[in-house]
Amino acid sequence: DHDNFVHCMSIHSSAGYIKSFKYLHTPGSTSYFNLLQSAQQNPRWLNSSSLRPRYIVTPYSADEIRVAVICSRKHNLQIRVKSGGHDYEGLSYLSKTPFVMIDLINLRSISVNLEEETAWVHSGATLGELYYSIAQKSRVHGFPAGLCPSVGIGGHFSGGGFGTLLRKHGLAADNILDAYFIDANGDILDRESMGEDLFWAIRGGGGGSFGIIIAWKIKLVRVPPVVTVFTIHKNLDQEAMQLVHKWQRAADKLPEDLFIRIVIQHPDGPTEETQKTVEVLFNSLFLGPVNELVPLMRKSFPELGLLEENCTQMSWIESVLYFAGFKRDDRMEVLLDRIVQYKSYFKAKTDFAERPIPENAVQGIREALLQEEVAFVIMDPFGGKMEKISESELPFPHRKGNLFNIQYLVKWSVDGNAEAKKHINWIKMLYKYMKPYVSRSPRAAYINYRDLDIGMNQQPNSSYSEAAVWGRKYFKGNFKRLAGVKMRADPGNFFRNEQSIPLLS
Ligand code: FDA
Repeated sequence: DHDNFVHCMSIHSSAGYIKSFKYLHTPGSTSYFNLLQSAQQNPRWLNSSSLRPRYIVTPYSADEIRVAVICSRKHNLQIRVKSGGHDYEGLSYLSKTPFVMIDLINLRSISVNLEEETAWVHSGATLGELYYSIAQKSRVHGFPAGLCPSVGIGGHFSGGGFGTLLRKHGLAADNILDAYFIDANGDILDRESMGEDLFWAIRGGGGGSFGIIIAWKIKLVRVPPVVTVFTIHKNLDQEAMQLVHKWQRAADKLPEDLFIRIVIQHPDGPTEETQKTVEVLFNSLFLGPVNELVPLMRKSFPELGLLEENCTQMSWIESVLYFAGFKRDDRMEVLLDRIVQYKSYFKAKTDFAERPIPENAVQGIREALLQEEVAFVIMDPFGGKMEKISESELPFPHRKGNLFNIQYLVKWSVDGNAEAKKHINWIKMLYKYMKPYVSRSPRAAYINYRDLDIGMNQQPNSSYSEAAVWGRKYFKGNFKRLAGVKMRADPGNFFRNEQSIPLLS
């Protein structure tokens, strides 16, 4: 099998033969294990050898991806594409059926064009590499995407992608102008040749369903030379409950330049004392100087009592480091580090709030957090630009009417099924508890916070109606259009995984 696969790669390569095998890795090689280990941002599945790829391909060019697609098809092997490896359920590096993992680690160049205010970024780059490259050229340009610098461009843009600029500029996917893409036949397409329907689907319809996106052309956004950040910690007592209450009513209606998110968690340090305490953080980016922020807060959220001394002015790129948890004096180059800062076992779930969560339910969240060591509930405010874009503009449908997104996250450090089960049961319990307070019909979810508990495809093929159980949660009315695009773009359902878009039937 191995010889046949290599032979196939050789004859289809445009060079006519494989000059070097440095981009094909087999289970026996040391590079194979290192690649697999570093791919897995969530090490929950590291020891499950049955799910490992037959080959890992680390292409240096689009042609090498093309060859890997053709030969995988020919040898009945599925493909899993990995850009940053942050998939919450490991779908970029795990599969129950024999597969080839295409790791885009070597395809990560970025070119910024300030005159056009655009950039081309390869899928294998990380958000940190993108932010760094923009900042190298300009202090007044940025890009609206996620907070964690090690997240990969490929998966993140494919699922939408949001961070501190979402209220001002929307999702990463809202700011994509063009893309290079390889389909199941190995054809390389751009926006014009793939057509508007497929171009619509790859900007938010989730990774791994339609083909492989090699690179994206993005529109840079303007940021002011000075921005202001603050983080206010409050013990989640009765008074702070009132603040959470006020935040829920105000955060989506604040001016678009102001983003304030909430994180509910134990204070830092796993001491006995911190374990008995739950705090709420008001964590904010304002696109402007402190002397504009303080009066604005006095007017729109006076209860928080924000003072100038709570705030720090900095450049936008410094705020990227701030939100990623780095220190003020850390060098900008930390953004280029692909190693995840806090690699640990984790499980997450997500919800959208369409109305404020009552105080007793916030109290319930507090009690739940007291049962776990390292767990968070993060609420990201919507409104602003997000409500000006229609639900069907892109596959990501969570626009007007959503006050905020909620992410529940639990982490642990001890390996083993029993340990994992304990924490996963905890998060399931919290998710069940939250049901009455969040969106319903459907209970919506965000594809980039992938959660296989909400439903999975039957292997090898799921019908459209079976998949609609989970698909409508991620995409609402856009799910049907996605399935139609899938039918035209990949009628053989070659690109598939546990939550890939099914064919419309
Ligand atoms: P990965 O490589 O695992 O890919 C994810 C999925 O996309 C897989 O199905 C994969 O096969 C597919 N895929 C990858 N590259 C592809 C390509 N080139 N073409 C086609 N399909 C491709 N989200 C957010 O919106 N805001 C945030 O702030 C954060 N923060 C964050 C922090 C941390 C620590 C984690 C683990 C995750 C986040 N996320 C996030 C979620 C993140 O956006 C999501 O997991 C992305 O899919 C990750 O993209 P990667 O390329 O890293 O993942």
